[in-house]
Amino acid sequence: MLITNDEELQKMREIGRICARAMHAMGDALRPGITTAELDLIGRRFLESHGAQSAPELCYQFPGATCISVNEEVAHGIPGDRVIREGDLVNIDVSAEKDGFFSDTGASFAVGKTTPKMSRLLRDGKRACWLGIGEVKTGKPLANIGKAIGSFAARNKYTLIANLASHGIGRSLHEEPTELSTWADPDETRMMEEGLVFTIEPFLSMGGQWAEDGDSEDDTWTLYSSPKAPTVQFEHTIVCTRNGPIVLTLAE
Ligand code: CO
Ligand code: CO
Repeated sequence: MLITNDEELQKMREIGRICARAMHAMGDALRPGITTAELDLIGRRFLESHGAQSAPELCYQFPGATCISVNEEVAHGIPGDRVIREGDLVNIDVSAEKDGFFSDTGASFAVGKTTPKMSRLLRDGKRACWLGIGEVKTGKPLANIGKAIGSFAARNKYTLIANLASHGIGRSLHEEPTELSTWADPDETRMMEEGLVFTIEPFLSMGGQWAEDGDSEDDTWTLYSSPKAPTVQFEHTIVCTRNGPIVLTLAE
């Protein structure tokens, strides 16, 4: 959406903060022994007690309030009886709607003791997201975001999952402009408009190129990295202004 007035901005700030706080409440609860269904319930309760509803459930009948992807899973993991273990890499992605406005945020976490390699990947995944955010300014090419993230990834010997793009958001979970690349994309010629709301969500990987469906017939949701490699995602919903970005999905 294009935000055109203060009321819309306030509504988007509200749902952005709710998503961020739900996601962080789940992150705080991450510990060995908890199941992904229990984590999801924490997110669901937070959303519902703040008058919001899960966007994946509302828009796509996703079987859970939030997406929780563990280790080999890159995105759209279904909450269930999987038990979280020490050293797991867990991505939590929360998107929700309130009063007709949508927001979307995600982060990856290491559970308990982790390796220096994994800590570095997590730090750099967050850095990649914020490098993209730093490129947001009215009148600039949307391609600048992917260029900045792509060169950071290449410089540091990472890959970016090339079929999981960022997206416009606001009046629905996924809307124009769609397919926003978080990698260098010579075909991207669109410009950032004043008030444009979209996500920035690079999937930074130690070798993964694509996200692919699994083999299970009962699970048509979960995506896996191909080739198999540790992958993290950090996502914020932002508004483009002539003074730069406003990040809507901050918890404070
Ligand atoms: Co998301
Ligand atoms: Co998103």
